[in-house]
Amino acid sequence: MTDSKPQVHLIDHPLILHKLSIMRRKDTSTSAFRALLEEISMLLGYELTRDLPVEMQDIETPLATMSAPTLQGKKVVIISVLRAGTGMLDGFLKVLPSARVGHIGLYRDPKTLIPVEYYFKVPREMADRQAIVVDPMLATGNSAIAAVERIKRTGPKQVKFLCLLAAPEGIENFHAHHPDVPIYTPAVDERLDEKGYIIPGLGDAGDRMFGTK
Ligand code: URA
Repeated sequence: MTDSKPQVHLIDHPLILHKLSIMRRKDTSTSAFRALLEEISMLLGYELTRDLPVEMQDIETPLATMSAPTLQGKKVVIISVLRAGTGMLDGFLKVLPSARVGHIGLYRDPKTLIPVEYYFKVPREMADRQAIVVDPMLATGNSAIAAVERIKRTGPKQVKFLCLLAAPEGIENFHAHHPDVPIYTPAVDERLDEKGYIIPGLGDAGDRMFGTK
């Protein structure tokens, strides 16, 4: 943990915002929603990997030898928070196909409202890796907090949290627990409603992605 101010990185690129606006529309189809989420996740993946270390390697072009920048090892693990995280995972892997992948499944106990883990699988050697946790909606923040808590126990070198939309309440709650974990998001909406949905938001991301409503 560091003493520095908790960070929220707004990745408000016009292409991302345009695609997000189409996703928000209630008449956008399931297939378009899924395709747009994948496209946005590729663009977000591009931004999030900006600080990956490179090393110089000698290569031969058809004309000469040169020292060329190459990504240093396979050091990123993308952790998908089930189930909606899978929609972001696919796009991210298109730009970083060598990334390792982990999954965490949580459900909210209806009585205690505490997130309960039902699935957890991450690669070995987490201590070498930067973990990027993906979950489209940072709403109350409770599942993101639990997911990051669990991942921190595996000892990764660094953790980042990536979402598609965040609520101010979720950001505050998340950073009260994990001030050392930066949040990356294209947009911060107005508020949460009484059921924990982001307003104006886009509805239930999992239902819209999988057509389960
Ligand atoms: N999860 C969603 O899918 N949508 C919200 O608005 C909040 C949480």
